[in-house]
Amino acid sequence: MIVFIVSCLRNISLLSISSMSMLISLQMSFPVFHNKSFVKFGRRFACDLIPYLEKFELLSTDFYENSLGFQVSIVFNSKFNLIFKDNEVVFVTYASGNHFAESKMGIHTLRTNNFTNKIIFYDLGLSLLNIEELQGVCNLEIRVFNYTAYPKFVRNLYGYHFKPIIIADIFREFKAFWIIDASARFKNLTNWKRFNHRVRSGAVEPFALRHPSSHSIFAATHNEMYNYLPLSASIARNYSMFDANTMFVVRSDFAKEAVKWNLLCALTKECMDPPRSKLGCNFTNDRFGVSAGCHRYDQSCINVIVASLKHRLGLPYQGHNLEKIRDSFDKFASVKRGEDMARKLQHFKC
Ligand SMILES: *[C@@H]1O[C@H](CO)[C@@H](O)[C@H](O)[C@H]1NC(C)=O
Ligand SMILES: *[C@@H]1O[C@H](CO)[C@@H](O)[C@H](O)[C@H]1NC(C)=O
Ligand SMILES: *[C@@H]1O[C@H](CO)[C@@H](O)[C@H](O)[C@H]1NC(C)=O
Ligand SMILES: *[C@@H]1O[C@H](CO)[C@@H](O)[C@H](O)[C@H]1NC(C)=O
Ligand SMILES: *[C@@H]1O[C@H](CO)[C@@H](O)[C@H](O)[C@H]1NC(C)=O
Repeated sequence: MIVFIVSCLRNISLLSISSMSMLISLQMSFPVFHNKSFVKFGRRFACDLIPYLEKFELLSTDFYENSLGFQVSIVFNSKFNLIFKDNEVVFVTYASGNHFAESKMGIHTLRTNNFTNKIIFYDLGLSLLNIEELQGVCNLEIRVFNYTAYPKFVRNLYGYHFKPIIIADIFREFKAFWIIDASARFKNLTNWKRFNHRVRSGAVEPFALRHPSSHSIFAATHNEMYNYLPLSASIARNYSMFDANTMFVVRSDFAKEAVKWNLLCALTKECMDPPRSKLGCNFTNDRFGVSAGCHRYDQSCINVIVASLKHRLGLPYQGHNLEKIRDSFDKFASVKRGEDMARKLQHFKC
């Protein structure tokens, strides 16, 4: 037990044992709140994940004040103080060879619509020819995803563990970024700038999901994920699930909290990819109240976390009515699954 505590708290001294164990819980167990008071914790994530939190500078979050005494106060209110310039926003994407043609089209679309922002492309398993093509695009950085730095199961791309890891990696470095799948298409720079303005004004929470799916979080989340990330069934049924293929993240306490738990879940196989998880859903007529027997891995995870954080703060949520989505992405971006680009990427100057 002592070893366990010490391994969890190598950097923290001069605390009583009870404060220490409470601190470990705060660091490693997802807290649940209701009406601004603390209700319970999720199952504790393994202490040997602490080095990852250190690596990504997520060990201390400022989400709570006086957390040792459970005098939980929310450090921010619904007005977020978010500062970033349009040209500081980075587009982050990733692909292995089988999604490269789809991904190329996303880059082509950005650059032909006058988006000159930096693109970071995570190579999840590209060929040398793929990489050569990317090298002709201005302001594009290629990063090789380092599988050896993570548990073995991260290699299973169908568990989507890689995505929260990439988010954490980028979050450490950049103020504001889009994290986008190969299918995301950004077309309208003017409307995109307008969206940025809405974010800066505090109208959009700083971990923004806006592409709705047609069902609730509950319908497409494996119930064992809630062991680590508890969410009341009533919230999970009421809240619409959003697609994780297009997300906007801005540096803030809110986003840091989301990035942290998202990472811990991704590095825990039973959280992100519980036994018998499957992607394919079998929906009944009720796409909100009834489980469709499927799981959406990183998408389930980030939806559960963001729903919980929003609920904590009393922020508006998206219910069953999907017509009226506040500050949606569809004015400047869309998702085109399977829209491939057969020809080579042209050279772009920025
Ligand atoms: C991109 O910028 C150029 C030069 O300002 C302009 O002529 C062109 O119409 C723009 N294209 C789009 C898609 O906005
Ligand atoms: C990948 O991670 C391993 C284990 O952390 C490390 O030893 C290695 O240097 C890393 N490789 C690169 C290219 O960063
Ligand atoms: C962006 O959308 C606006 C309408 O919202 C439209 O007037 C404008 O032409 C669009 N720009 C481009 C480059 O598609
Ligand atoms: C979920 O929706 C039902 C019906 O609209 C409502 O009674 C309940 O309070 C909601 N629960 C939460 C947590 O929002
Ligand atoms: C889907 O659910 C229905 C009703 O519960 C069931 O009859 C059917 O066999 C299920 N299909 C699959 C592919 O699981």
